[in-house]
Amino acid sequence: MFPENASTIAGQVDLVYLYLNLVCAVFAIGVVIAIVYFAIRYRRNPTHTAIQQVEGSHLLEIAWSVVPLILMMTMFGWGAWLYVRAVTPPKGAMDIYVVGKQWMWKVQHPTGQREINDLHVPVNTPVRLTITSEDVIHSYYIPAFRMKRDAVPGRYSQAWFEATKPGTYHIFCAEFCGTKHSQMIGKVHVLSAEDYANWLAGNLSGDTAEEAGKKLFEANRCNTCHHDQSGARGPNLAGVFGSQVKLKDGSTVLANEEFIRESILRPQAKIVAGFEPVMPTYEGQLSEEQVLQLVAYIKTLAGPAKEAK
Ligand code: CUA
Repeated sequence: MFPENASTIAGQVDLVYLYLNLVCAVFAIGVVIAIVYFAIRYRRNPTHTAIQQVEGSHLLEIAWSVVPLILMMTMFGWGAWLYVRAVTPPKGAMDIYVVGKQWMWKVQHPTGQREINDLHVPVNTPVRLTITSEDVIHSYYIPAFRMKRDAVPGRYSQAWFEATKPGTYHIFCAEFCGTKHSQMIGKVHVLSAEDYANWLAGNLSGDTAEEAGKKLFEANRCNTCHHDQSGARGPNLAGVFGSQVKLKDGSTVLANEEFIRESILRPQAKIVAGFEPVMPTYEGQLSEEQVLQLVAYIKTLAGPAKEAK
């Protein structure tokens, strides 16, 4: 009845689902039984006397208001609690970047490994996915983890999971995205700590995401404006990630992945207090993978102590 259960959240999702179905089944069966019983018991019959009207019953009114209320509120409360758990990555989770593209899933590990349609993760380790798309809306779906998150162009969505069982599980695209939507599939490989270390060691192809980001930072001459000398035309980026940034219009904004991405692609959208809107836009000049690499690099400038949520 259920797909394989291989994450910390999966069992709980199944329980909520079971509860919803159980409540629905009890009431549906009860109603059907009542219909049949009343149809027989009160069928047209000359020996029956006139029907007695029920003029009102407070007890009945209260019962059929309060009982459903309690049932609904447990569904809502339990569901909301689990939803918040399912969408809030624990602190210190491992970061992995996912880019959907017609019709494949491109994955970058912060340590430099890249893969297409595959995802290698260690068991018993929380993994946080930052998901985006290069073209249309896709949806990254791993049924065994009960995890599904849309990949939306122009936006970062986040999801997380902690795999509990080594093995290989399906990845699907769960949003119709064109002719080969059904072939936009992959496999997630959950490895033991040792196997994962071996996999990492055997797959070090070139730069880590941060190193690639650092190179992009220099190649695009970001450092000519973003530096720590006086008279810099752009804000100094050291320590920015995870901090509250004061904007020109007086408001403040949390410098998270989304803000960094927007500031690279559409710098005019939010101007940091004390600076002029002089930065050129990089929209169309950097791929989503490159923007993710820059984000990874700018994160490192914040220092290891600051872990943004
Ligand atoms: Cu991508 Cu469906």
